[in-house]
Amino acid sequence: MASAAPRSSLALPIRGEALALRRGGRLLVDDLNLSLEKPGITTLMGPNGAGKSLTVRMLAGLVEPDSGQVTWAGRAPDRARASSVGLVFHRPVMLRRSALDNVRYGLKAAGVPRGERRERAMAALARGRLEHVAASPAWVLSGGEQQRLALVRALAVEPEALLLDEPTANLDPASTLAIEELVSQAQARGTAVLLVTHDLGQARRLADRVVFLNAGGLSEDTPAVTFFDQPRTPQAQAFVEGRLVL
Ligand SMILES: Nc1ncnc2c1ncn2[C@@H]1O[C@H](COP(=O)(O)OP(=O)(O)O)[C@@H](O)[C@H]1O
Ligand SMILES: [Mg+2]
Repeated sequence: MASAAPRSSLALPIRGEALALRRGGRLLVDDLNLSLEKPGITTLMGPNGAGKSLTVRMLAGLVEPDSGQVTWAGRAPDRARASSVGLVFHRPVMLRRSALDNVRYGLKAAGVPRGERRERAMAALARGRLEHVAASPAWVLSGGEQQRLALVRALAVEPEALLLDEPTANLDPASTLAIEELVSQAQARGTAVLLVTHDLGQARRLADRVVFLNAGGLSEDTPAVTFFDQPRTPQAQAFVEGRLVL
């Protein structure tokens, strides 16, 4: 029996090797190694200013490291493969168009043929329980709906990897859970997710693996079970025990 050929990888593994970044004489990221190799959810945690957002931006190919290198599937990131790596930040960036058109635009940018875009966009909106606002201008949606739309738009193209920088930072608990559900679905469909979060409960609910950053360097990179049962560093211990709020 003929079987479908596996889709060749455009993005995975995403590897950051010996990354360093300096700004204004300060070393903000120092000799950091962080890779996303396979499907699963990795949470990236650490105090404010630890370098989490800069790390995400380097892995996304948006910021060049001063030394070290980022590769997607063995080569430097390039625009042609940008839609293989979905990105969502804590504030959604929307086009001044309808919710549906925002998703359709993402599909167009990813090279999906015109005839397939509407159906795929509607299916993606349905997964995010946003069909009822498909025709509404994106800017009239609530904050939670806009963030869900940003995630739906990224997921519609079925990215291999998803980089999420505090996507639920500004959301109420119900909107947060709706985002978490979409992230879990993406993981189940085979996406490798890197999720920056300050939310201990969220990390416990979602993470397979935890990376903890401190002052621009990696202090832990372990399976989530190990991180929560036996955090190694004093800071991670304090965080897990609720004595340190990030
Ligand atoms: N463009 C920049 N120029 C100078 N300092 C920066 C710049 N971007 C970020 N920083 C500093 O780098 C550190 C890490 O930033 P960031 O990655 O945003 O931290 P976080 O872990 O909170 O996401 C912070 O101290 C921040 O002030
Ligand atoms: Mg940040």
